[in-house]
Amino acid sequence: MDLFSEIEEPEREELKSLRKELEEANYKYYVLNMPTLSDREFDEKMHRLQDLEAQFPDMFDPKSPTQHVGSDLNVQRNNVQGTKGFETVKHKYPMLSLANSYSREEIEDWVRKLPSGVEIVCELKYDGLSISLWYEHGVLVRALTRGDGVQGDDVINNIKTIPSIPWRIERNDIPEFFELRGEVLLPWERFEALNKEREEQEEPLFANPRNAASGTLKLQDPKEVARRGLEAYLYYMLGDQLPGTTHFERLETAKQWGFHISDAIKVCKNVDEVMAYIAYWDTERKNLPVATDGIVLKVNNLAQQEELGFTAKTPRWAIAYKFPAEKQLTLLKEITYQVGRTGVVTPVANLEPVQLSGTIVQRATLHNEDFIKSLDIRPGDRVWVEKGGEIIPKIVGRADRNDEMSATPSLNDEMMYSFPTVCPECGAKLVRVEGEAAWRCPNEAGCPPQIKGKIEHFVSRKAMNIDGLGEETIDLLYQKELLHNIADIYDLKLEDIAAQERLGEKSAQNMLAGIEASKQVPWARVLFALGIRMVGETTAKKIARVYNTIDSLQEANSEQLCAIEDVGPQIAENIVAYFRDERNLAIIERLRKAGLQFEGEAAEGPQSDKLAGMSIVISGTFSQHSRDEYKALIEAHGGKNVGSVSKKTSFILAGENMGPEKRKKAEDLGIKLMTEDKFLEMIQ
Ligand code: IVH
Repeated sequence: MDLFSEIEEPEREELKSLRKELEEANYKYYVLNMPTLSDREFDEKMHRLQDLEAQFPDMFDPKSPTQHVGSDLNVQRNNVQGTKGFETVKHKYPMLSLANSYSREEIEDWVRKLPSGVEIVCELKYDGLSISLWYEHGVLVRALTRGDGVQGDDVINNIKTIPSIPWRIERNDIPEFFELRGEVLLPWERFEALNKEREEQEEPLFANPRNAASGTLKLQDPKEVARRGLEAYLYYMLGDQLPGTTHFERLETAKQWGFHISDAIKVCKNVDEVMAYIAYWDTERKNLPVATDGIVLKVNNLAQQEELGFTAKTPRWAIAYKFPAEKQLTLLKEITYQVGRTGVVTPVANLEPVQLSGTIVQRATLHNEDFIKSLDIRPGDRVWVEKGGEIIPKIVGRADRNDEMSATPSLNDEMMYSFPTVCPECGAKLVRVEGEAAWRCPNEAGCPPQIKGKIEHFVSRKAMNIDGLGEETIDLLYQKELLHNIADIYDLKLEDIAAQERLGEKSAQNMLAGIEASKQVPWARVLFALGIRMVGETTAKKIARVYNTIDSLQEANSEQLCAIEDVGPQIAENIVAYFRDERNLAIIERLRKAGLQFEGEAAEGPQSDKLAGMSIVISGTFSQHSRDEYKALIEAHGGKNVGSVSKKTSFILAGENMGPEKRKKAEDLGIKLMTEDKFLEMIQ
């Protein structure tokens, strides 16, 4: 076999296995409604398959997932246009954003600078995704996302699931064409129900209703979109032959035509009325069913709007006042400590329950010892709790202890705060690594939350994906001394599991089937599942591509590991330390005997570590492979592709017409140039 076809072979295999994988993913997504790949993973794999098919035209197959769509509806995924198969359409009028400010003074200034007598319409600023609805002869024909402002994706099938959006308007007083813009939202109640469901199914939670609405609007299955229950508020009508001379009149008209327009809209005649509106909704918005993040002020008169015009990005006739992130003052009852799977001890504030951004908050993170000390926070204090874009609320400050509102000083006067010195779970002496903010429990093998946390991580969906082994079951089996570490999972017997109250024969069988199936999970995910500190899903994939067996990885030293993209000295050190620990080696041996995949498939591309530890610069044009392919080859053989020539460069992979500057620098530093033929021979 010549050199070239030997390089081709793994790619042909990869092409075949990608077709199989995508076919299966389509089936699970569209037919079973149980996606196994994230949209992003799906897209990446589909793109890779498209590239490979272009590279090997002899392997064309009309049945390939690139050639047909996997749907019972006319929704397409991954066609050439648009993201994920939505049709991309140019907006009739660009979709601009709004100038905004967090300062009430600036808003007052903005109003005062308007010509006198100008009316201002105040509206709520809904915190969702903007949408542009096109109506032709009264029929909804397009629903475009903002996209890049110039063109957006048509998500009409998903928009049609929103009950308040009419598909057709039966009136004879409407223009031939008009456009309505508004915001798509997932109401608080729906958001919470969705996250609860996702928690039960161990799916990642949405951080806020906006993210949830955005994820929902981009789904490919309108049935699922309908189930989630989106809502929309409309706030802007555009078109050439529209009735009315003011913005407010237009919204009133839209309301009459049957559109969902907020009742909170108010025409204000002066700055005081505007500021009163802001003050009122600042508190009242907490009672709304959907998320809002500010107030929008718009010049009412359309002729005046036109006079003021637009900047490149925003209209001059509108501005948004943004509410600061919502904070609440509440009593800090107690500080408890949570030990994570890697032993990090996180202080947690246990609070007097408080309503915040639509949910009741009782616990919030206090980050670490330094944070607590810098704010001098003690139990008994009244603390500020804030919910930003993240799911976990955080403490951001403390009220003055002399403040009337604060707790009795005697409660906390004497007690200077000190971080525990021993693990609250197992009693081991805590350690704090220099340069790190966190205290850690070093008792990896004997500390219950670390043991259970490692098992939970191991069985999680993106790792070994073992169904039937949730948090509670792990806890139960741990209590019953059936599970102490990840290797014990493969020793579980039907009778042991079935003998447990709450479990029974049926769940025992399911669990064992899940455990059995996990033996086919590919090497990259097994590596992620081992739970080596800082080796996340993506890093594990990158490592597994270079080190395609656990044995080769075990032998790698820090320097070699650092040659892998995304692996820095800290991660490299964690990997080396992991394999230095005899207990880990014993567990790996047991897992190996159980039949887990500790070798990557050739199709995943890890070829060798022939370039391990090398930094290689690519320069010029090539005839046998593209630059991107050479980059992938370097990485697949353990090397690192770097952009510029330095002392550390191992050699330059030089093609035709190499840049003169790089050539000069290479000469000055005495760095070798290698032709592509030589390079291919080297990695053979
Ligand atoms: S008017 C040309 N009104 O805020 C001005 N926008 O930060 C068109 N938004 O992209 C926008 N509530 O998605 C307008 N009552 C409201 C709004 C609103 C929310 C969003 C909209 C816009 C973004 C700008």
